Amino acid sequence: MFDASAMTALDTRAVHAGRDDLAGLGVHVPPIDLSTTNPLPSVGDGGDAYETLATGNPLPAGGNAVYQRLWNPTVARFETALAHLEETTDAVAFASGMAALTACLLAATRDGNRHVVAVRPLYGGTDHVLATGLLGTTVTWAHPHQVATAVRPDTALVVVETPANPTLDLVDLDALAAACGDVPLLVDNTVATPVLQQPARHGATLVLHSATKSIGGHGDVLAGVVACDAGWATRLRQVRALTGAILHPLGAYLLHRGLQTLPLRVRAQQAGAEKLAAWLTGHPAVARVHHPSLDDPAGLVGRQLRGTGSLLAFEVRGGAPAAATVAAACQLITHAVSLGGVDTLIQHPASLTHRPVAGEAKPAPGLLRVSVGLEDPDDLRADLAQALDTI
Ligand SMILES: Cc1ncc(COP(=O)(O)O)c(C=O)c1O
Repeated sequence: MFDASAMTALDTRAVHAGRDDLAGLGVHVPPIDLSTTNPLPSVGDGGDAYETLATGNPLPAGGNAVYQRLWNPTVARFETALAHLEETTDAVAFASGMAALTACLLAATRDGNRHVVAVRPLYGGTDHVLATGLLGTTVTWAHPHQVATAVRPDTALVVVETPANPTLDLVDLDALAAACGDVPLLVDNTVATPVLQQPARHGATLVLHSATKSIGGHGDVLAGVVACDAGWATRLRQVRALTGAILHPLGAYLLHRGLQTLPLRVRAQQAGAEKLAAWLTGHPAVARVHHPSLDDPAGLVGRQLRGTGSLLAFEVRGGAPAAATVAAACQLITHAVSLGGVDTLIQHPASLTHRPVAGEAKPAPGLLRVSVGLEDPDDLRADLAQALDTI
């Protein structure tokens, strides 16, 4: 039988992880358990199981899951598989990336320290939660080299995204983890995916994904997941159980299936993004192109990041009005938020995904973000060319 816990190649783990017991069950694909409640053997056993799960502990072998908000076997399978890809001992899945972030902030600050150090740029929703202090946190924004001095005795968490959405800025995680000292480091790995980067290898405590993006990959599941060690998983599962943020099992099934093609999709979409980025750099209507294939001053591609990824951004001459014209003129490429799916999307971050970001940190007015899908890059180039011609 295949042992997914062994350190086989990532592509092999992507196909087989979380499926070790299927042959023993006599099935080829994972069963979906939709039960919201479970028959209890006795009041005593049920109560013990409730206590175990509501305090964030994993379901013991042969244990009773009690209630879907506390535990779901289909969700747990996806978590096991994702942890194998991120090379962490555990993972906890949520109903969205923002639910995952919320749980991380609540878990990190539960002992009273409420200060967060955050490196911009971040996804607009993450920036918004931190800037508003909606969850009771205060924030210090810092460049990566300022993190060591920004960290205080009451700092509960350092938050970073690399490659960052939307400008694909890269941050050296080994250096950042060293600057954090004992403070836990949360790395949003949504853009890279575990195919290109395992932040836990570089000192990350919490590795967060909007699984809505590349992990799902087909634009039909809203989800989040955090890869981490067993202690953090317990904290996160307790928050998840008490706030009701667990992922739906149908979503977990689709994400687990999505992992099987994730390496292939990421590499094919990345090849398209590299071609488009190179072509855009020579276009007269384009002032600047952002993609790790073009801009990697610290030499992180190869050392930390095994590829350049499928997300790119470019700044058109003529600012926001020109960018709006291009987005509206695309025909094959869909004008829509989100990223990482099989079809190519374009959007204007300053108006949409990064709308709430404060003035000084807002993306440039002429910046458009493109999530490159699996279409033939020549067709994408032709569509962008005709859209750029309309300015
Ligand atoms: C990098 C990144 N992190 C987190 C999120 C939030 O995830 P979700 O939309 O699944 O809540 C997003 C969403 O766009 C994102 O792009």
